[in-house]
Amino acid sequence: MTDDPDRPLALITGASRGIGAAVARTLADDHDLLLGGRDPQALVALAGELPSATPWPVDLTDDAAVAQAVRGLDRLDVLVHCAGVGLLGTVAETPAATWRHQFEVNVVAVAELTRLLLPALRAARGRVVLLNSGAGHAARAGWASYAASKFALRAFADALRAEEGGNGVRVTSVHPGRTDTDMQREVVRQESGEYRPERYLRVESVAAAVALAVRASADAEVVEVVVRPATA
Ligand SMILES: NC(=O)c1ccc[n+]([C@@H]2O[C@H](COP(=O)([O-])OP(=O)(O)OC[C@H]3O[C@@H](n4cnc5c(N)ncnc54)[C@H](OP(=O)(O)O)[C@@H]3O)[C@@H](O)[C@H]2O)c1
Repeated sequence: MTDDPDRPLALITGASRGIGAAVARTLADDHDLLLGGRDPQALVALAGELPSATPWPVDLTDDAAVAQAVRGLDRLDVLVHCAGVGLLGTVAETPAATWRHQFEVNVVAVAELTRLLLPALRAARGRVVLLNSGAGHAARAGWASYAASKFALRAFADALRAEEGGNGVRVTSVHPGRTDTDMQREVVRQESGEYRPERYLRVESVAAAVALAVRASADAEVVEVVVRPATA
């Protein structure tokens, strides 16, 4: 963390790897950063590369730990929700525990962290960016619980935008297509497909879409960004 009081502060969940780590690298030039995730070693390693960053390790499904972790955060310019899980399965084969866990991480934890940080976001007239998915617009066979969680996340973002716009809080949903991360590797494994990284978005390309929303001028709110892998 720098000691420049004029530098904006951004909290990025899911920053220990994948899209969240790329968002951290992209915003590090002009933001102080809090790096969210559960893996403290990965967070310390990334913070070592980025002098403006501080690890913020917390399991987002642990309400008490989250309440403790936000204590003292009175002003927050940017909140980027990158943490998420991607659990596939047909309706016939998806048990209640999978539905609960997917909604717990992808929706409930996002709502609770946002709620706790709203006073700090209002104080800064801050921006909230939510990593959604192509699955937040269209549900395919085998994707019911993941897509339902992302539809719910889009609804959450739309309601938050309507409620908090008057308080100066700007809200963006970013909908990437398949992106080359651990999550995508696991998704392709569950689909019994072949992992072809050259067919997927690079994490830096998704981070650029997040940065577009974060760095928009004060008169502008980027409502939704859809990013898909370009076809050859
Ligand atoms: N990859 C894609 O193709 C793709 C496409 C569209 C949308 N998305 C969305 O983009 C976001 C990031 O995906 P990704 O591919 O970067 O995923 P990833 O590589 O699997 O990383 C997931 C991140 O979420 C964190 N996380 C998971 N559960 C958590 C919990 N209970 N508490 C705190 N942190 C938790 C992980 O932290 P630890 O590692 O420290 O546990 C990790 O940093 C997700 O919302 C995903 O749905 C991804």
